[in-house]
Amino acid sequence: MTTYIKNGTVISATGATKLDVLIDGEIVAAVYQPGSTLATTAEESASSVIDAAGKYVIPGGVDVHTHMELPFGGTYASDTFESGTRAAAWGGTTTIVDFAVQSHGRQVRECLDEWHAKAEGNCAIDYGFHMIIGEVNEASLKEMTILVDEGLSSFKLFMAYPGVFYSDDGQILRAMQNAAETGGLIMMHAENGIAIDVLAEQAVSRGDTDPIYHGMVRRAELESEATHRAIQLAKVGAAPLYIVHLSASGALEEVTRARNNGANVFAETCPQYLYLNLEDHLGAPGFQGAGYVCSTPLRTKHEHHHADLWKGLRTDDLSVVSTDHCPFCMKDQKELGRDDFRAIPNGIGGVEHRMDLIYQGVVNGEIGLARWVELCSTTPARMFGLYPRKGVIQPGSDADIVIYDPNASWSISVDNHHMNMDYSAYEGIEVNGKVRTVLSRGRVIVDNDQYLGSKGDGQYLRRGLCQYLM
Ligand code: URP
Ligand code: ZN
Ligand code: ZN
Repeated sequence: MTTYIKNGTVISATGATKLDVLIDGEIVAAVYQPGSTLATTAEESASSVIDAAGKYVIPGGVDVHTHMELPFGGTYASDTFESGTRAAAWGGTTTIVDFAVQSHGRQVRECLDEWHAKAEGNCAIDYGFHMIIGEVNEASLKEMTILVDEGLSSFKLFMAYPGVFYSDDGQILRAMQNAAETGGLIMMHAENGIAIDVLAEQAVSRGDTDPIYHGMVRRAELESEATHRAIQLAKVGAAPLYIVHLSASGALEEVTRARNNGANVFAETCPQYLYLNLEDHLGAPGFQGAGYVCSTPLRTKHEHHHADLWKGLRTDDLSVVSTDHCPFCMKDQKELGRDDFRAIPNGIGGVEHRMDLIYQGVVNGEIGLARWVELCSTTPARMFGLYPRKGVIQPGSDADIVIYDPNASWSISVDNHHMNMDYSAYEGIEVNGKVRTVLSRGRVIVDNDQYLGSKGDGQYLRRGLCQYLM
């Protein structure tokens, strides 16, 4: 089975070129100069032809931060691997890397097996895992070493959530030393959770229980302090470091300083930190703000966080945009914290909207087309050892391809999204551009507002090491 994509503009991390693409089975077989003799021959012998005139042909999105079915605060993230990966496909994402969780008191391996069981046979697109290390000890350190060899090469630690996921500085240092030896990558949730818990307790005793106080107590200083500390610990441990869901100017300054000093420190941000804010969203009337409770939190619109983060995306101090997709419905889930913001499950769903929302940065002149693809596809693939299988359209790569129509316009709504959520955090945002066709390993799984894939299409990805360290 061969497919020929013609008349499109192929976007890569290095630029835009008019090229035709030949897919053979699951793999990109060749790219051709349109109109060349070789192109004509390839088109004539192809089993099917897709006309991408006026469209961009981009490598499928790679979202390296999702939480399908995550247990959190007595409930579970509302997207399963089935519903969440299907929604991702609708939005032009063809690979996710989700987080398997070692919970306190349990073995890493048995927890990872559980995550495999949740995902296997259910995913619409290819998927890999990072491992959340909920308890750094001799056994988990040993397992981390083994996992790197098995293709699970990145580990998330938390400086937040004392008593749940929290690691102290000694545990963090030990995990970093381990990663320095194995080539693994430590991903850090950088917020000072001990200080946050004090402020949260004080807020609730004052009667400040509304969702907005979630953001007020998780102060930006406590993100920059933890980011700074994580960077220093990584230096002592001689390990590279990847900061997840960076939300604020101060934390970005810490990352920028480290990078300017030559450290192997990387960071991602997420669309919620580029589009949403504390006052209008977390502070929305009634209990609506609960829909915007996530950690790190949304930041105040009275400072320059959004502008600074877009700048970080241009300068590469922010190298990746992921979603931290962790949806909860308002009904029965976010509502758990109606009387106390600390009981609102933390997370926002957005796996479907990342490609469109970051493309608005192209429309608005914040970034260029090549940077869009680099941030959403190529760099995440390289950062987490999936390149060039993912993240690029070139001979030998998986034929994960999105045909993107820059001339469409629509607006995001709970009424048109495919995530299992009863609201949209991005309700009403006008989008220029739209995913028209999605191919996952050569198969068309979305085409003109129709889903053509099925559960179990997606395969587990064994990953290599971070390719920025080689
Ligand atoms: O609020 C969030 N981000 N929930 C998911 C867990 C995490 O810390 O990434
Ligand atoms: Zn986190
Ligand atoms: Zn997360």
